[in-house]
Amino acid sequence: MKKDQASKKPRVFSGVQPSHDLHIGNYIGALRNWALKQHLSDNIFCVVDLHALTLPEDIKPEVLRENSRKVAALYYACGLDIETNIVFIQSHLHEHAEAAWILNCTTPLGWLQRMTQFKAKSEQAASIGMGLLDYPVLQAADILLYDTDEVPVGEDQRQHIELTRDIAIRFNNLFGETFVLPKAVIPEEGAKVMGLDEPEAKMSKSVARNRPGHAINLLDNEKTIKKAIMSAVTDSEKETRFEHASAGVINLLTMYRALTHESRDAIEARFEGKGYGFLKKELLGAVLETLKPIQSKFNEIMADRDGLERLLAKNADAAREIAAKTLSKMKEATGLG
Ligand code: AMP
Ligand code: TRP
Repeated sequence: MKKDQASKKPRVFSGVQPSHDLHIGNYIGALRNWALKQHLSDNIFCVVDLHALTLPEDIKPEVLRENSRKVAALYYACGLDIETNIVFIQSHLHEHAEAAWILNCTTPLGWLQRMTQFKAKSEQAASIGMGLLDYPVLQAADILLYDTDEVPVGEDQRQHIELTRDIAIRFNNLFGETFVLPKAVIPEEGAKVMGLDEPEAKMSKSVARNRPGHAINLLDNEKTIKKAIMSAVTDSEKETRFEHASAGVINLLTMYRALTHESRDAIEARFEGKGYGFLKKELLGAVLETLKPIQSKFNEIMADRDGLERLLAKNADAAREIAAKTLSKMKEATGLG
């Protein structure tokens, strides 16, 4: 499939669920990478509220609606330029759900049953809706509707992006060339930030909701962040280095490195002969320095609610223009409409 000749830059698309508060793992694994390379690509970032509905008992309607706005504001607060990036809310467009239905019909059930995130979430959920199983097909629709070349995400999404490629290839084979094949872009450092209280498990929004000290949320105050970092799990060794350290120490060092962009050697030299208390203090400094400007930009955007609603409506129109074209190609190819 040839992309629109007018646009030479690769199309980048990604999204985060507006379920609960975003944390430093979301920032290091995804959001800040969107901002770092934004000028090299043509960018669309979506607040995937339809995905957040896949565990409906988890989130109240008024909280979901408010969180969607907050997450959109956070995308911009984390460094995306308001003028050049399209940030929109998924449910403002009907095209995503419609495209997902068509892809449902061409996606083998076995592909979805194999997804590790589905297995993990369905083990924890009290009841499992169809949407939870279908979640990666909706994600494929999100990505494919925009002729996406690159999907910047954390490590946990690799399998979903591979599946998106398989879904696109199968559709193209069945109905003719329709979709661009996207690839995942995963950061070298910080693709999987671990829980501060349990460094063997990924830092997670849903866990953080019930366990203070598990995560650093992007909107947390200084006192809460300090408490979480100072009580983070480490070990009884004394050397602060990347090799042969425990999962907890590696996690703190990895976050520090991701936030300061210093080399491993420089970091090890800085922490040589010093205890973990010093590492935690330095990490706290780096986290606060990162989050302060993000929080003040976030507050500024949220203070102008009408402005934010207008921006989101305008962006939804811009996104719809692209998505509607792909959806009509899908309908044309399959004999619908
Ligand atoms: P989610 O929290 O599942 O909506 O994920 C939103 C984005 O953040 C995705 O690109 C994830 O891969 C990324 N992400 C989520 N948790 C982490 C984590 N603990 N470390 C690094 N990236 C993460
Ligand atoms: N499944 C992704 C996550 O949990 C969120 C998501 C939905 C997404 N649609 C997407 C990410 C499209 C990238 C592209 O993190």
